[in-house]
Amino acid sequence: MALVIPTIEGLAPYEGGKPIEELARELGISDAVKLASNENPLGPSPRAVEAARRVLTDAHRYPDGAAYELRTKLAAKHGVAMEEILLGAGSNELLDLAVRTFCTPAQHIVFAEPSFVVYRIAALSGGVPFSAVPLTAGLVHDLPAMAAAVTPETRVLFVANPNNPTGTHVGRAAVEKLLREVPPDVIVVMDEAYFEYADAPDYPDCLQLRSLRERLLVLRTFSKIYGLAAFRVGYAVGPRNLIDYMNRVRAPFNVSTLAQAAAVAALDDDAHVQNARLLNQAERKRVTRALESRGLWVAPSQANFVLVDLKRPARAVYDALLKQGVIVRPFASLPTSLRVTLGTERENDRFLAALAEVLP
Ligand SMILES: Cc1ncc(COP(=O)(O)O)c(C=O)c1O
Repeated sequence: MALVIPTIEGLAPYEGGKPIEELARELGISDAVKLASNENPLGPSPRAVEAARRVLTDAHRYPDGAAYELRTKLAAKHGVAMEEILLGAGSNELLDLAVRTFCTPAQHIVFAEPSFVVYRIAALSGGVPFSAVPLTAGLVHDLPAMAAAVTPETRVLFVANPNNPTGTHVGRAAVEKLLREVPPDVIVVMDEAYFEYADAPDYPDCLQLRSLRERLLVLRTFSKIYGLAAFRVGYAVGPRNLIDYMNRVRAPFNVSTLAQAAAVAALDDDAHVQNARLLNQAERKRVTRALESRGLWVAPSQANFVLVDLKRPARAVYDALLKQGVIVRPFASLPTSLRVTLGTERENDRFLAALAEVLP
């Protein structure tokens, strides 16, 4: 008998952005700039770091498995009940949990392509059939096509808004239509990892749209604008019954004491979040213009990264940028494009200067 199911046999491990230390080992570059994992270039809030430091001496104790303080604080922030919130080791764990809790191999999942690769990994891990619905020509989620891909077996439909790796968003009217029209037994997961960076007037806050459908999970994370990616903490907001089932399946103590303390403190540092948002808005505009002035196409981004179409094989440009000490992100599904996280002004200047060196 096979050791694993065929979909796991065919699975490639998730590959993150290249760590700075790896580039140092491989090419001996010591001052590399990493613009590859959509991290906050301002780092964590000093208050979050201090809060994590304070709980280090409790390291011999298991975390509060119910994460009472953090869930209470998030419930108050969003005006929801504590029982409507589930924490995960990053929103990544919650995506996986949604599939493991609600789907069997007899069911079906819908997501976009290209979108966040973890949707596919979660489906393949569980042996759950899926439809990967192409983005539009403008690299935006095609919500009508996704709704049309729903079958009687569909259990979960994922939408990343803004999308990764394109940065594009879907507007409120289209999202409302989807939430209203998809059959009620489907769980729509709105993955809003980059929510705080979005500023388009028509960008919807799906926590405000919960009245439109019962089976809606809204996912947020502390990894992006809060600058706490290393701590691994994200959360889902949804109806009590969905949260209750996922809570039964999740691993005990899935969010560490340090992560909980850091997240609680980060929620109190609005100024840090606001600085990150303003820096990102300014740099998103500036980097986009600089790339466009080279005749390149940049997908309209609402996130903390841009996808640029170089109109030539991107892998070679990626490798050449590495030699210049600039780490960005190539995608096999977008062979002429690179995804570039927006860093500090200095980091972005390094990227633009390196690109000018590398492009003929
Ligand atoms: C769209 C999207 N969802 C979820 C995640 C997962 O983030 P985390 O597990 O760090 O919360 C990411 C990370 O890049 C993402 O881009």
